[in-house]
Amino acid sequence: MNEGALTVRIHVVENYPELSLRAAGIVASQVILKEDTVLGLATGSTPEEMYRELAQLHREGKVDFSRVTTFNLDEYRGLDPGHPQSYHYYMRQHFFDHVNIKPENIHIPPGQGADIPTICQDYEQQIAAAGGIDLQVLGIGVNGHIGFNEPGSHLQTETHLVDLTAETIKANSRFFSTPKEVPRQAITMGMGSIMQARRILLLASGKSKSAAIRDTLGGRVTTAVPASFLQLHRRVILLLDREAAALL
Ligand code: PGA
Repeated sequence: MNEGALTVRIHVVENYPELSLRAAGIVASQVILKEDTVLGLATGSTPEEMYRELAQLHREGKVDFSRVTTFNLDEYRGLDPGHPQSYHYYMRQHFFDHVNIKPENIHIPPGQGADIPTICQDYEQQIAAAGGIDLQVLGIGVNGHIGFNEPGSHLQTETHLVDLTAETIKANSRFFSTPKEVPRQAITMGMGSIMQARRILLLASGKSKSAAIRDTLGGRVTTAVPASFLQLHRRVILLLDREAAALL
């Protein structure tokens, strides 16, 4: 392959447990190779098992997170960090409480606070001050969103406040007891924040993601499918299970 050629590497595994093991292996290798790795992290149901595997590797003494810095992709607007559906809570529950990561090295966009422009600028500055993201883990929405960069007529480059689409609100409503509780807005890293990561690992499992994966790799880059921009990144791994890869 030509030096500098655009490359999306696609790995298809049988099922979700295999995907999770493989994803944890990739993240662990990154941390082993570079102890002070800056990880970009995702929430949602897809990476849950990957976090469990990473915690297990840590317990077995195989990975040390003491020098790792993390930046999460997004947080709902209006949820405090103790809310069980906030991404602050998710990350503690699924990962941070189970590994030796230093609290001061953890970054998640705040869900509260009035001065949105400053919140967003600070987040970008913190990523830059950490030296940029070495490995960004991504899920993908059924509508092709990454982080909460939703399909639309334009995409934003930097961390910003976003109105969630009806489709995303619907997909997220399974986590809330009443539709009214589902947040309508979020703060998300922008497309530029994501695309600047040195490596990207996108995880997709299940047939609900198959159309979004097909459109991600369809050879067209379009704001209608934010993940399609990953075709322009030089170091992307798409880790899929058979169902997510069914339409390729
Ligand atoms: P999921 O969410 O892992 O819960 O399917 C992914 C996303 O919306 O980015």
